[in-house]
Amino acid sequence: ASSFNKVMKPLDCFKPKPSFKITVVGSGQVGAAVAAFLLVRKLTKHLVILDVKYDLATAEALDFSHGSAFLGNPIVEACGDGNRTKNSDVIIITAGARPSGKTRSRLDVMHKTVVILKSVVPKLVELSPKAIFIIICNPADVMTFAVQRIGNLEKHRCFTTGCHLDTARFRYLIAKRLRVPTSAVNAYIIGEHGSSAVPVRSSVTVGGIRLSDVVKDWARTRTRRSGSDLMDGILNAGVHVSKAKGYTNWAVGLTASDVVKCMVENTGQVCCVGTDVKGLYGLKDSVVLSVPCRVTASGISHILELPLNEDERKKLLKSADTLLEAQCSLKW
Ligand code: LAC
Repeated sequence: ASSFNKVMKPLDCFKPKPSFKITVVGSGQVGAAVAAFLLVRKLTKHLVILDVKYDLATAEALDFSHGSAFLGNPIVEACGDGNRTKNSDVIIITAGARPSGKTRSRLDVMHKTVVILKSVVPKLVELSPKAIFIIICNPADVMTFAVQRIGNLEKHRCFTTGCHLDTARFRYLIAKRLRVPTSAVNAYIIGEHGSSAVPVRSSVTVGGIRLSDVVKDWARTRTRRSGSDLMDGILNAGVHVSKAKGYTNWAVGLTASDVVKCMVENTGQVCCVGTDVKGLYGLKDSVVLSVPCRVTASGISHILELPLNEDERKKLLKSADTLLEAQCSLKW
Protein backbone atom coordinates (compact mmCIF):
# COMPACT_ATOMS: atom_id res chain seq x y z
CA ALA A 1 0.00 0.00 0.00
CA SER A 2 2.84 2.39 0.74
CA SER A 3 4.20 2.16 -2.81
CA PHE A 4 0.72 2.95 -4.14
CA ASN A 5 0.65 6.11 -2.03
CA LYS A 6 4.13 7.01 -3.18
CA VAL A 7 3.28 6.80 -6.87
CA MET A 8 -0.12 8.41 -6.52
CA LYS A 9 1.53 11.75 -5.73
CA PRO A 10 0.02 14.63 -7.68
CA LEU A 11 1.20 15.23 -11.23
CA ASP A 12 1.66 18.76 -12.46
CA CYS A 13 0.79 18.15 -16.10
CA PHE A 14 -2.99 18.16 -16.06
CA LYS A 15 -3.42 20.18 -19.24
CA PRO A 16 -5.73 18.49 -21.73
CA LYS A 17 -4.17 17.97 -25.14
CA PRO A 18 -5.79 20.15 -27.84
CA SER A 19 -5.78 17.37 -30.45
CA PHE A 20 -3.72 14.34 -31.28
CA LYS A 21 -2.89 13.19 -34.76
CA ILE A 22 -3.48 9.46 -34.52
CA THR A 23 -2.41 6.68 -36.86
CA VAL A 24 -4.12 3.31 -36.74
CA VAL A 25 -2.00 0.61 -38.37
CA GLY A 26 -4.15 -2.16 -39.86
CA SER A 27 -7.62 -1.74 -41.31
CA GLY A 28 -9.03 -5.14 -40.34
CA GLN A 29 -11.87 -5.63 -37.87
CA VAL A 30 -9.82 -4.42 -34.90
CA GLY A 31 -8.30 -1.40 -36.69
CA ALA A 32 -11.73 -0.34 -37.95
CA ALA A 33 -13.28 -0.68 -34.47
CA VAL A 34 -10.45 1.36 -32.90
CA ALA A 35 -10.85 4.04 -35.59
CA ALA A 36 -14.62 4.12 -35.14
CA PHE A 37 -14.48 4.64 -31.38
CA LEU A 38 -11.72 7.26 -31.61
CA LEU A 39 -13.89 9.20 -34.07
CA VAL A 40 -17.25 8.71 -32.37
CA ARG A 41 -15.76 9.72 -29.01
CA LYS A 42 -14.16 12.72 -30.75
CA LEU A 43 -10.68 11.89 -29.49
CA THR A 44 -8.91 13.05 -32.64
CA LYS A 45 -9.32 15.60 -35.39
CA HIS A 46 -6.84 13.85 -37.69
CA LEU A 47 -6.86 10.11 -38.16
CA VAL A 48 -4.67 8.16 -40.58
CA ILE A 49 -5.46 4.54 -41.43
CA LEU A 50 -2.38 2.68 -42.65
CA ASP A 51 -2.59 -0.65 -44.40
CA VAL A 52 -0.56 -2.37 -47.09
CA LYS A 53 -3.97 -3.13 -48.55
CA TYR A 54 -4.28 0.49 -49.59
CA ASP A 55 -7.65 0.01 -51.29
CA LEU A 56 -9.15 -1.34 -48.08
CA ALA A 57 -7.67 1.50 -45.99
CA THR A 58 -9.00 4.02 -48.52
CA ALA A 59 -12.47 2.51 -48.42
CA GLU A 60 -12.54 2.61 -44.60
CA ALA A 61 -11.30 6.21 -44.55
CA LEU A 62 -13.93 7.18 -47.09
CA ASP A 63 -16.67 5.35 -45.21
CA PHE A 64 -15.80 7.32 -42.04
CA SER A 65 -15.46 10.57 -44.00
CA HIS A 66 -18.99 10.16 -45.34
CA GLY A 67 -20.12 10.48 -41.71
CA SER A 68 -17.90 13.51 -41.14
CA ALA A 69 -20.85 15.81 -40.36
CA PHE A 70 -21.71 13.61 -37.37
CA LEU A 71 -18.15 13.36 -36.11
CA GLY A 72 -17.14 17.02 -35.77
CA ASN A 73 -15.49 17.23 -39.23
CA PRO A 74 -12.26 15.30 -38.58
CA ILE A 75 -9.71 14.60 -41.31
CA VAL A 76 -9.67 10.86 -41.99
CA GLU A 77 -7.19 9.67 -44.57
CA ALA A 78 -5.66 6.41 -45.73
CA CYS A 79 -2.10 5.52 -46.56
CA GLY A 80 -0.37 2.46 -47.89
CA ASP A 81 3.30 3.30 -47.36
CA GLY A 82 3.52 5.31 -44.13
CA ASN A 83 4.23 8.79 -45.51
CA ARG A 84 0.99 10.37 -44.34
CA THR A 85 1.61 9.18 -40.78
CA LYS A 86 4.36 11.83 -40.39
CA ASN A 87 4.30 13.62 -37.01
CA SER A 88 1.63 11.42 -35.47
CA ASP A 89 1.25 11.89 -31.71
CA VAL A 90 -0.12 8.40 -31.17
CA ILE A 91 0.37 5.25 -33.28
CA ILE A 92 -1.88 2.29 -32.56
CA ILE A 93 -0.75 -1.01 -34.07
CA THR A 94 -3.46 -3.57 -34.79
CA ALA A 95 -1.91 -5.25 -37.85
CA GLY A 96 -0.85 -8.83 -37.32
CA ALA A 97 -1.71 -12.45 -37.84
CA ARG A 98 -5.05 -13.55 -36.40
CA PRO A 99 -5.09 -16.42 -33.84
CA SER A 100 -7.01 -19.40 -35.21
CA GLY A 101 -7.51 -23.13 -34.72
CA LYS A 102 -8.98 -24.82 -31.68
CA THR A 103 -7.04 -22.96 -29.00
CA ARG A 104 -6.95 -19.53 -30.68
CA SER A 105 -3.73 -19.10 -28.74
CA ARG A 106 -2.37 -15.58 -29.06
CA LEU A 107 1.19 -16.88 -28.64
CA ASP A 108 0.89 -19.11 -31.74
CA VAL A 109 0.86 -16.21 -34.20
CA MET A 110 3.84 -14.42 -32.72
CA HIS A 111 6.44 -15.18 -35.42
CA LYS A 112 4.18 -14.09 -38.27
CA THR A 113 3.27 -10.84 -36.54
CA VAL A 114 6.85 -9.94 -35.69
CA VAL A 115 7.73 -10.10 -39.40
CA ILE A 116 4.97 -7.56 -40.11
CA LEU A 117 6.19 -5.31 -37.27
CA LYS A 118 9.76 -5.39 -38.52
CA SER A 119 8.57 -4.20 -41.91
CA VAL A 120 6.53 -1.26 -40.61
CA VAL A 121 7.84 0.03 -37.26
CA PRO A 122 11.23 1.56 -38.28
CA LYS A 123 9.61 3.88 -40.82
CA LEU A 124 6.85 4.89 -38.39
CA VAL A 125 9.43 5.78 -35.73
CA GLU A 126 11.51 7.72 -38.24
CA LEU A 127 8.50 9.77 -39.40
CA SER A 128 7.06 10.33 -35.92
CA PRO A 129 10.03 10.33 -33.55
CA LYS A 130 7.97 11.56 -30.59
CA ALA A 131 4.91 9.34 -30.99
CA ILE A 132 3.48 7.14 -28.26
CA PHE A 133 2.99 3.57 -29.54
CA ILE A 134 0.03 1.52 -28.36
CA ILE A 135 0.26 -2.14 -29.33
CA ILE A 136 -2.85 -4.26 -29.76
CA CYS A 137 -1.78 -7.03 -32.18
CA ASN A 138 -1.38 -10.38 -30.47
CA PRO A 139 0.36 -11.72 -28.52
CA ALA A 140 0.14 -8.14 -27.30
CA ASP A 141 2.70 -8.34 -24.49
CA VAL A 142 5.40 -10.09 -26.54
CA MET A 143 4.72 -7.82 -29.53
CA THR A 144 5.14 -4.76 -27.28
CA PHE A 145 8.52 -6.13 -26.20
CA ALA A 146 9.33 -6.59 -29.91
CA VAL A 147 8.28 -3.03 -30.88
CA GLN A 148 10.25 -1.56 -27.96
CA ARG A 149 13.34 -3.35 -29.35
CA ILE A 150 12.67 -2.80 -33.08
CA GLY A 151 11.90 0.91 -32.62
CA ASN A 152 14.34 1.48 -29.75
CA LEU A 153 11.44 3.00 -27.80
CA GLU A 154 11.47 3.78 -24.09
CA LYS A 155 9.06 1.68 -22.03
CA HIS A 156 6.86 4.62 -21.02
CA ARG A 157 5.99 5.41 -24.64
CA CYS A 158 5.43 1.96 -26.07
CA PHE A 159 2.87 -0.13 -24.26
CA THR A 160 -0.03 -2.48 -24.89
CA THR A 161 -3.71 -2.12 -24.00
CA GLY A 162 -3.05 -5.66 -22.67
CA CYS A 163 -5.10 -6.50 -19.58
CA HIS A 164 -7.01 -3.22 -19.59
CA LEU A 165 -9.42 -5.26 -21.71
CA ASP A 166 -9.36 -8.36 -19.46
CA THR A 167 -9.86 -6.01 -16.50
CA ALA A 168 -12.96 -4.52 -18.17
CA ARG A 169 -14.30 -8.03 -18.83
CA PHE A 170 -13.58 -9.06 -15.23
CA ARG A 171 -15.46 -6.03 -13.86
CA TYR A 172 -18.37 -6.71 -16.18
CA LEU A 173 -18.63 -10.39 -15.16
CA ILE A 174 -18.45 -9.62 -11.43
CA ALA A 175 -21.07 -6.89 -11.87
CA LYS A 176 -23.32 -9.22 -13.82
CA ARG A 177 -23.11 -11.96 -11.20
CA LEU A 178 -23.78 -9.52 -8.37
CA ARG A 179 -26.36 -7.54 -10.35
CA VAL A 180 -24.68 -4.21 -9.73
CA PRO A 181 -23.49 -1.65 -12.29
CA THR A 182 -20.05 -2.38 -13.78
CA SER A 183 -18.89 1.06 -12.64
CA ALA A 184 -19.41 0.00 -8.99
CA VAL A 185 -16.75 -2.70 -9.34
CA ASN A 186 -13.08 -2.04 -8.90
CA ALA A 187 -10.90 -4.96 -9.91
CA TYR A 188 -7.80 -5.83 -11.91
CA ILE A 189 -6.51 -8.62 -14.08
CA ILE A 190 -2.74 -8.44 -14.45
CA GLY A 191 0.01 -10.34 -16.27
CA GLU A 192 -0.25 -11.80 -19.76
CA HIS A 193 -3.07 -10.71 -22.06
CA GLY A 194 -3.77 -14.40 -22.49
CA SER A 195 -4.33 -17.63 -20.66
CA SER A 196 -1.84 -17.03 -17.81
CA ALA A 197 -3.44 -13.70 -16.81
CA VAL A 198 -3.99 -13.25 -13.07
CA PRO A 199 -7.32 -12.03 -11.65
CA VAL A 200 -6.39 -10.12 -8.48
CA ARG A 201 -9.26 -11.33 -6.36
CA SER A 202 -7.77 -9.98 -3.11
CA SER A 203 -8.19 -6.35 -4.22
CA VAL A 204 -11.68 -6.54 -5.73
CA THR A 205 -14.11 -4.05 -4.22
CA VAL A 206 -17.80 -3.54 -4.97
CA GLY A 207 -19.15 -0.16 -4.01
CA GLY A 208 -16.00 0.25 -1.93
CA ILE A 209 -16.63 -3.02 -0.01
CA ARG A 210 -14.15 -5.89 -0.33
CA LEU A 211 -15.48 -8.73 -2.52
CA SER A 212 -14.63 -11.19 0.26
CA ASP A 213 -17.13 -9.36 2.47
CA VAL A 214 -19.99 -9.59 -0.06
CA VAL A 215 -19.15 -12.80 -1.85
CA LYS A 216 -20.25 -15.49 0.62
CA ASP A 217 -23.90 -15.83 -0.34
CA TRP A 218 -23.16 -15.16 -3.95
CA ALA A 219 -20.55 -17.93 -4.02
CA ARG A 220 -23.02 -20.47 -2.56
CA THR A 221 -25.74 -19.69 -5.13
CA ARG A 222 -23.29 -19.77 -7.95
CA THR A 223 -21.81 -23.17 -7.06
CA ARG A 224 -25.24 -24.81 -6.79
CA ARG A 225 -26.42 -23.45 -10.13
CA SER A 226 -23.47 -23.78 -12.48
CA GLY A 227 -20.47 -24.98 -10.53
CA SER A 228 -18.34 -22.76 -12.74
CA ASP A 229 -15.80 -20.38 -11.37
CA LEU A 230 -15.94 -16.77 -12.44
CA MET A 231 -12.17 -16.46 -12.29
CA ASP A 232 -11.75 -19.28 -14.84
CA GLY A 233 -14.53 -18.00 -17.09
CA ILE A 234 -12.91 -14.62 -17.41
CA LEU A 235 -9.68 -16.05 -18.83
CA ASN A 236 -11.60 -17.49 -21.75
CA ALA A 237 -13.89 -14.54 -22.38
CA GLY A 238 -12.04 -13.30 -25.50
CA VAL A 239 -11.53 -16.81 -26.88
CA HIS A 240 -15.23 -17.53 -26.42
CA VAL A 241 -16.27 -14.50 -28.51
CA SER A 242 -13.66 -15.11 -31.17
CA LYS A 243 -14.67 -18.76 -31.62
CA ALA A 244 -18.17 -17.63 -32.52
CA LYS A 245 -17.41 -14.62 -34.71
CA GLY A 246 -13.85 -15.29 -35.87
CA TYR A 247 -12.30 -12.33 -34.06
CA THR A 248 -13.02 -9.85 -31.29
CA ASN A 249 -13.11 -6.16 -32.04
CA TRP A 250 -15.66 -4.01 -30.17
CA ALA A 251 -14.37 -4.45 -26.63
CA VAL A 252 -10.75 -4.03 -27.67
CA GLY A 253 -11.69 -0.97 -29.75
CA LEU A 254 -13.39 0.54 -26.71
CA THR A 255 -10.39 -0.35 -24.57
CA ALA A 256 -7.97 1.42 -26.91
CA SER A 257 -10.21 4.47 -27.08
CA ASP A 258 -10.36 4.56 -23.27
CA VAL A 259 -6.56 4.62 -23.08
CA VAL A 260 -6.43 7.42 -25.67
CA LYS A 261 -9.10 9.32 -23.73
CA CYS A 262 -6.85 9.17 -20.66
CA MET A 263 -4.00 10.56 -22.78
CA VAL A 264 -6.14 13.35 -24.24
CA GLU A 265 -7.48 14.35 -20.81
CA ASN A 266 -3.98 14.01 -19.38
CA THR A 267 -5.08 13.53 -15.80
CA GLY A 268 -2.97 10.48 -14.94
CA GLN A 269 -5.86 7.98 -14.84
CA VAL A 270 -4.99 4.41 -13.94
CA CYS A 271 -5.27 1.83 -16.75
CA CYS A 272 -4.13 -1.78 -16.59
CA VAL A 273 -1.74 -1.56 -19.54
CA GLY A 274 1.44 -3.49 -20.30
CA THR A 275 5.04 -2.43 -20.49
CA ASP A 276 8.46 -3.62 -19.28
CA VAL A 277 8.07 -4.06 -15.52
CA LYS A 278 11.64 -5.12 -14.71
CA GLY A 279 12.47 -4.34 -11.08
CA LEU A 280 8.84 -4.35 -9.90
CA TYR A 281 6.73 -7.19 -8.46
CA GLY A 282 9.97 -9.06 -7.74
CA LEU A 283 10.75 -9.43 -11.47
CA LYS A 284 14.44 -9.33 -12.28
CA ASP A 285 14.26 -9.60 -16.08
CA SER A 286 12.89 -7.30 -18.77
CA VAL A 287 9.41 -8.64 -19.38
CA VAL A 288 6.33 -6.89 -20.74
CA LEU A 289 3.15 -7.57 -18.81
CA SER A 290 0.13 -5.60 -17.67
CA VAL A 291 -0.23 -3.96 -14.27
CA PRO A 292 -2.04 -0.77 -13.24
CA CYS A 293 -0.23 2.26 -14.69
CA ARG A 294 -0.94 5.99 -14.71
CA VAL A 295 -1.46 7.15 -18.29
CA THR A 296 -0.80 10.74 -19.38
CA ALA A 297 -0.37 12.55 -22.70
CA SER A 298 3.30 11.54 -22.68
CA GLY A 299 2.55 7.88 -22.06
CA ILE A 300 2.98 5.96 -18.82
CA SER A 301 4.03 8.27 -15.98
CA HIS A 302 4.04 5.66 -13.18
CA ILE A 303 3.82 1.91 -12.87
CA LEU A 304 1.87 1.01 -9.72
CA GLU A 305 2.70 -1.93 -7.49
CA LEU A 306 -0.59 -3.54 -6.53
CA PRO A 307 -0.46 -5.42 -3.21
CA LEU A 308 -0.83 -9.15 -4.00
CA ASN A 309 -1.38 -12.18 -1.80
CA GLU A 310 0.99 -15.14 -1.97
CA ASP A 311 -1.09 -17.08 -4.51
CA GLU A 312 -1.47 -14.06 -6.83
CA ARG A 313 2.24 -13.28 -6.60
CA LYS A 314 3.11 -16.86 -7.56
CA LYS A 315 0.68 -16.76 -10.49
CA LEU A 316 2.12 -13.45 -11.69
CA LEU A 317 5.66 -14.88 -11.62
CA LYS A 318 4.38 -17.86 -13.61
CA SER A 319 2.73 -15.55 -16.14
CA ALA A 320 6.01 -13.63 -16.40
CA ASP A 321 7.87 -16.91 -17.02
CA THR A 322 5.48 -17.79 -19.86
CA LEU A 323 6.08 -14.39 -21.45
CA LEU A 324 9.84 -14.48 -20.91
CA GLU A 325 9.98 -17.80 -22.67
CA ALA A 326 7.98 -16.40 -25.60
CA GLN A 327 10.16 -13.26 -25.72
CA CYS A 328 13.32 -15.38 -25.77
CA SER A 329 12.03 -17.48 -28.66
CA LEU A 330 11.53 -14.42 -30.88
CA LYS A 331 13.50 -14.66 -34.10
CA TRP A 332 14.97 -11.25 -34.95
C1 LAC B 1 -9.22 -9.94 -27.16
C2 LAC B 1 -8.16 -9.84 -28.21
C3 LAC B 1 -8.01 -8.44 -28.67
O1 LAC B 1 -8.92 -10.37 -26.06
O2 LAC B 1 -6.95 -10.32 -27.77
O3 LAC B 1 -10.38 -9.55 -27.45
